[in-house]
Amino acid sequence: MATISTLAYLVAAVLFILALRGLSHPTTSRQGNQFGMIGMAIAIVATLFRPGMAPGGIILILAGIAIGGSIGAVVAKRIQMTSLPQLVAAFHSLVGMAAVFVAAAAFYSPESFGIGTHGHIHGASLVEMSLGLAIGAITFSGSVIAFAKLDGRMSGAPIIFPQQHKLNAALGVLLLVLIIAFVMNGNPVLFWLIALLSFALGFLLIIPIGGADMPVVVSMLNSYSGWAAAGIGFTIGNLLLIVTGALVGASGAILSYIMCKGMNRSIINVLLGGFGTDTSAAGAGGATADHGPVKAGSPEDAAFIMKNAAKIIIVPGYGMAVAQAQQVLREMGDLLKKEGATVEYAIHPVAGRMPGHMNVLLAEANVPYEDVKELEEINPEFAEADVAFVIGANDVTNPAAKTDKSSAIYGMPILDVEKAKTVFFIKRGMASGYAGVDNELFFRPNTMMLFGDAKKVTQEVVQALQK
Ligand code: TAP
Repeated sequence: MATISTLAYLVAAVLFILALRGLSHPTTSRQGNQFGMIGMAIAIVATLFRPGMAPGGIILILAGIAIGGSIGAVVAKRIQMTSLPQLVAAFHSLVGMAAVFVAAAAFYSPESFGIGTHGHIHGASLVEMSLGLAIGAITFSGSVIAFAKLDGRMSGAPIIFPQQHKLNAALGVLLLVLIIAFVMNGNPVLFWLIALLSFALGFLLIIPIGGADMPVVVSMLNSYSGWAAAGIGFTIGNLLLIVTGALVGASGAILSYIMCKGMNRSIINVLLGGFGTDTSAAGAGGATADHGPVKAGSPEDAAFIMKNAAKIIIVPGYGMAVAQAQQVLREMGDLLKKEGATVEYAIHPVAGRMPGHMNVLLAEANVPYEDVKELEEINPEFAEADVAFVIGANDVTNPAAKTDKSSAIYGMPILDVEKAKTVFFIKRGMASGYAGVDNELFFRPNTMMLFGDAKKVTQEVVQALQK
């Protein structure tokens, strides 16, 4: 039985790796998800049939699955795509708390976990347990703060006070000392002191981080939750938990790195927090400075120009997601293709509010994958394009990233939309984007603003194209 269970764990681990591989590209992401689901089902069944599993334990696990699964299904159905980052943060907090509970269970009932007897737990197990406990508690409180900031339940502005980094560093050292002392004598008071200090540290580490950096933080917390699970996997001697935790830990860390690169932020700056606070308009969307008059057009004007265009590049951004304009946008693209134009979709790595945000929405609207181009691939094509149709995107097109060293987004790679003959910006007004930075492209002679909700304006363009 033990061999079958180990084999099943191996199959599940391979499926998890295949899931990650599948999720790395839109064409294979659904299949990747399916691999992940099958892997998890195998892992659960194999755990239920593990040797030594008491019937009471099986009932408890099934009850947990029923309650947690039902809550998860309802939340998943109700959640708006734009709220996914905060949902992920909320779920991570549960992973962190679970690690704390498992560590406590292992500490108070070591016999059940085969790691020694009460008061005589193996040294290696005390190390793994205390690491799982500390990382789990940090993940819990950090994720709660990330959730509150992303969900607007507390201000997204960094909370900074004097000597903050020094205090955090001192608490980090104290935590290390407590862990060493706990490993040496297994004292329950030390166990709970580690938990308390880690909860406080998670809170203190996340409050100075500004709203704009929060998605990177969520990804980092995702990584921490993976390492916490791996630590607990060692404690309870569960190979699959170790492998899965390590996969989550590593992939979360890689994703954080990719996001930082896309925004030209250093991961150290993000994690130390409080940096770039002078640009903390992030998410506030202030008004643009006066650069002179803008040229506003109508959907009919846009339809007329695009009917006569040979090459059109569509640049979706956060506003498209808010307006849920992806379906009608695809209809517009199809109509323009029928008119003989080449239509492509340009994706910036941090367009929207989460990694892959635009890819998911375009895939949902059945935009062909071959029409969707990444930044490096599409940028040289703007110079040959007749039209750049920028729908609800702003920061990802802002040339200040290339020219203004004082700008919050300086150094971020951007889509060179201004090189197209005509640039349409579809947005409701003159507000700035997430980074709170003015976009002087709105005032350029080759720009035409199409003011209004992204879905409504695109619907009107479609109607005008059909006339
Ligand atoms: P943003 O720069 O945030 O601009 C979105 C624009 O959409 C706004 O200027 C807004 O202008 C417009 N808008 C909002 N609702 C609209 C609606 N219903 N209809 C039409 N327009 C609407 O978006 P972006 O260009 O996609 O850039 C993403 C930003 O988020 C970057 O700064 C990036 O660093 C940041 N960020 C991204 C991520 C990831 S991983 N994707 C994570 C964290 C932060 P109006 O109000 O005038 O309409």
